[in-house]
Amino acid sequence: MLPARVLLNPVFLALVMLYTTFYSPISYGSTILPPHLIMTLISLVVAASKTGMGIGCGGDLPWRLPEDLKMFKSLTTGPNNNNAVIMGRKTWDSIPAKFRPLPNRLNVVLTRQPTGENSDGNKTSSPYPDNVLVASSVDDAMRQIAERNINNTFVIGGGEIYKTFMDSGKVDEIYLTEVQADEDKFTFDTFFPKLSPSDYDCEDVGGGEKTDEKSGLKYKFLKYTKVAEGADLNPEEMQVRRRERRAERELAFANSE
Ligand SMILES: NC(=O)c1ccc[n+]([C@@H]2O[C@H](COP(=O)([O-])OP(=O)(O)OC[C@H]3O[C@@H](n4cnc5c(N)ncnc54)[C@H](OP(=O)(O)O)[C@@H]3O)[C@@H](O)[C@H]2O)c1
Repeated sequence: MLPARVLLNPVFLALVMLYTTFYSPISYGSTILPPHLIMTLISLVVAASKTGMGIGCGGDLPWRLPEDLKMFKSLTTGPNNNNAVIMGRKTWDSIPAKFRPLPNRLNVVLTRQPTGENSDGNKTSSPYPDNVLVASSVDDAMRQIAERNINNTFVIGGGEIYKTFMDSGKVDEIYLTEVQADEDKFTFDTFFPKLSPSDYDCEDVGGGEKTDEKSGLKYKFLKYTKVAEGADLNPEEMQVRRRERRAERELAFANSE
């Protein structure tokens, strides 16, 4: 194992970038870099109303869609149980205590409240279980995730966190459950930012419109994939571009240490 000062050295990282760009046969998303240097794909998972992009009300979800929760669980857990989910403190609070942390995923909670210290500077116990990562900023969250062997990172809400990530330009793909929830029947106080259609390719990944048996709500599983600069690239070139982006991000994190 090489020492951290070598692994985080920009020259070493540049060599890794060249290697992964031109020689590596391993596809994007696999563990090509040492665990603490893995940059993950950042996906965002959300269920929003079709017309107004409403996602929440009164600190809770506006609807109960069991099939959506099933999809969420399977997508974010993945085949190898080595994904991370990032959420805002209010979304963490909204998950019933017996269901959190979300199992088989690294749970990362964003909060600006320092944990482990009260206002007098005295030590207190953290309100989060030991296996939950607490991060004070998006970069802090990404840095802590980069130190672990994580495959994909899913941003799971809520409104404030979605907006922060969307504004950061770090989101590679968005899994959107588009719910036909009319504003005359539903009230929302939390929203997902408007998506710019020219920035993303959209595909239906759920086989068309579905209807929830109990509520009669109609919904669709959509996936938005960020259109890279040079959208005319072929799949191999696109893969090279993604590896470059991953190495660039790693350099940015290393330099921000
Ligand atoms: N439909 C969906 O798919 C979906 C998914 C998830 C959640 N939701 C809904 O969304 C609502 C919650 O969303 P929300 O916008 O109110 O809250 P949120 O985004 O879940 O959490 C906001 C909190 O996150 C922390 N935070 C925000 N930005 C931060 C940053 N840059 N660095 C560090 N900490 C940061 C702050 O916590 P502190 O106050 O502790 O500092 C802030 O109060 C609920 O109604 C929930 O049910 C819907």
